[in-house]
Order: sequence, then structure tokens, then C-alpha cells
Amino acid sequence: MKTEVFFLDENNIDFDIIDRAANVIRNNGTVVFPTETVYGLGANALSGEAVKKIFAAKGRPNDNPLIAHVSSMNMLLYLIGSPLRAEAGLLIDKYWPGPLTLIFKKSGKVPDEVTAGLDTIAVRMPDNRIALELIERSGLPIAAPSANISGKPSPTTPEHVIADMKGKVNMILCGSKCRVGVESTILDMSGDMPVLLRPGGLTLEELEILLGPVRVCGRKVGDKKIPKAPGMKYTHYAPDADMIIVNGELNNVKMKIQELATEYSSRGMKVGVLASDETAGYYKACKVLSLGSRLDARVIASNIFEKLREFDKIGVDIILAEAFDESHLGMAVMNRMKKAAGFNIIEV
Ligand code: TXA
Ligand code: MG
Repeated sequence: MKTEVFFLDENNIDFDIIDRAANVIRNNGTVVFPTETVYGLGANALSGEAVKKIFAAKGRPNDNPLIAHVSSMNMLLYLIGSPLRAEAGLLIDKYWPGPLTLIFKKSGKVPDEVTAGLDTIAVRMPDNRIALELIERSGLPIAAPSANISGKPSPTTPEHVIADMKGKVNMILCGSKCRVGVESTILDMSGDMPVLLRPGGLTLEELEILLGPVRVCGRKVGDKKIPKAPGMKYTHYAPDADMIIVNGELNNVKMKIQELATEYSSRGMKVGVLASDETAGYYKACKVLSLGSRLDARVIASNIFEKLREFDKIGVDIILAEAFDESHLGMAVMNRMKKAAGFNIIEV
């Protein structure tokens, strides 16, 4: 497939290009676009035929539902099947547009392809002007998963989406590097109580300011009644190399990683270490990438997918990763790292 690629400046948008992209959406084609979290692979959320093209381009299992992206409250209300609850209204007032996806009972207008047959729909309003203008000028909600090949780290730069999606979609809109760098937080509002299904760019602490204590899916062992995001069961974010996370007191972590790096190198393996600014200078005889300073979780989050992809490009055989603090944005970062590592974690 021929893919048209355009570069846009979020602060000085070329609306002719947005109109061309909106036309592709209205004609049930596919458009990759930037958001504040990660790049999305979009199509008309009201057409089953259009949405099928998303699954084909990504190689995504079709039992994994999509998030519908909206640019207005009217679009949200069109998609949901019951009146908006007060709690949801509060969250939307405070955090939309932004990295928060809410799950509601769906209306009859949403095709089954979007929701993988579920009776609920995930909706968010992205905080990126290119994305919002595209939705607004299409006049349609846009269904969009992250624009990576299924199973790979999510794309956060134009280079990533071009590598994964050129030839597979009708159009790619390139903006800048995604500001947040991890996907949206998913909160299920369809049951009696809000449940956090996926930690993301909006922190649990920020949700709890408005909601009080929030139930986190998977935290209570044995509770099978909690609905889960179907996508959470698949292998995710996996770099080509095997990955091991080392968790514990930072000095012990450094020593353990160096010990493992020396051992793997002596077996002829090319070793990558995922470190932080505070520790990167410590390691010897391996390829070290820093996620940023441990004092700024926002920077760490914005770099996580990019650095995982960089190790693929370098072609390391094994990645040894320092664990990060799991509070605030660290919860989303460690969630992605654990999945990338297939839950391969050494405690020291
Ligand atoms: O930040 C984001 O959310 C990005 C950008 C592009 O907006 N999108 C994104 O989409 O991460 P995706 O498809 O990679 O992840 C969506 C997750 C999947 O785990 C899926 O199973 C879950 O949302 N999901 C979608 N609809 C759901 C529903 N009705 N109930 C439960 N989980 C749902
Ligand atoms: Mg994804």
C-alpha cells in the first residue's frame, strides 16, 4: 500500500494536510497520528469495515478492543449507552484532554469490531492539537490503538511510526516526540466502582485526588470478578532481546547488573544496560542507555519505549534493566518494563 507521510508542527498546523487526513478517515481509510501519550493508528470508529483495517495493519488479535478518540462531549455522549455519572463528569472536567481513558457501557451506534464484542466502550480525548483537529475535521470519533506492530514497544517518535507502519496505512501524520511517552491510564467506569485497568500517563495519585481510594485491577489475588482490559493478556512492548529487571537497593542493583553483564559478555553476548543518569557511568564493557534522572519520573516515562527500541537497533542479545520506584508515573513505567521483560525480575 502507498503511504503518504506528512510532517506537522503542532504549534503551526497546516490545515490542508489535516483536511486530507480527515478525508481519508471519512472514506474509511487509516491514518497514523500523534497524541501526547504515544502515536495512534486511527480509523472511523463508527465503521466496522474501517476498524478491521487497523487490526490488519498491526497484526492485532481481533478480540482486543480499541479506544475511541473524541474531540467533544457530544461525541462521547453519542458513543455511550447511559447517562454520564457524576464521578466521570468530574474526571473529564479535570483531566480531559489528557492521558485518561474511561470505559462506559456502549451505545448501539458502536460497531462490535471496535469493542471486540464487549458491551463497553473505551473513550479518551487526546491532548494534542493535531489529533484533536483531525477528529474535529473528520466529524467522527477515531478508533486508535498504539501505532506499533502488535507486541512491539509503542511508538513515540516519527521514526518509530515510519519504521512500523509505512506501507501498511494510507497516511502517516508526524508530529514531535510524544510528551508523555507511556499510554493513557485506563479506568473502568462501567461497574459499581471505578477500577484501574492499566496504569498510564495520569497517575493513580492524581485519580485519587478526585475519587478517593481507587481499586487497582489485579491487586487483589483471587478476585475473578474484576473486568480486565483484554489487551493485558498479550505479550507486550517486547524488544527483540531478552530482558531482565533487577530490583532492590540501588547499590546492590548496580553490582548485580555489572556481575551479570560481565558473565554474559564472557559468553560472547552483546549486553545492553538500561540505567539512569545517576548510575550510567558505573557500568563497564556493555552498551549503556539512560532513561534520565531518577528524580524526574516524567522524563523516565517519556524515554522508556524509545530506549527499548534503541536496543533493538543496536542489536544487543540481552538487556539488563534497573528497576524504578513504582509510585506516581513510575507505576506505568514499571508496568511496561515488566511486560517487556516477560516478568523476568531478579530481587537483590
Ligand atoms: O494512550 C493511549 O491510550 C494510546 C493512544 C493512541 O491513545 N492507545 C492505546 O491503545 O494504548 P491500545 O489499543 O494499544 O491499548 C488499549 C487497551 C487495550 O489493552 C485494550 O484491551 C483496552 O485498552 N480496552 C479497550 N477497550 C476496552 C474495554 N471496553 N474494556 C476493557 N478494556 C478495553
Ligand atoms: Mg498498544
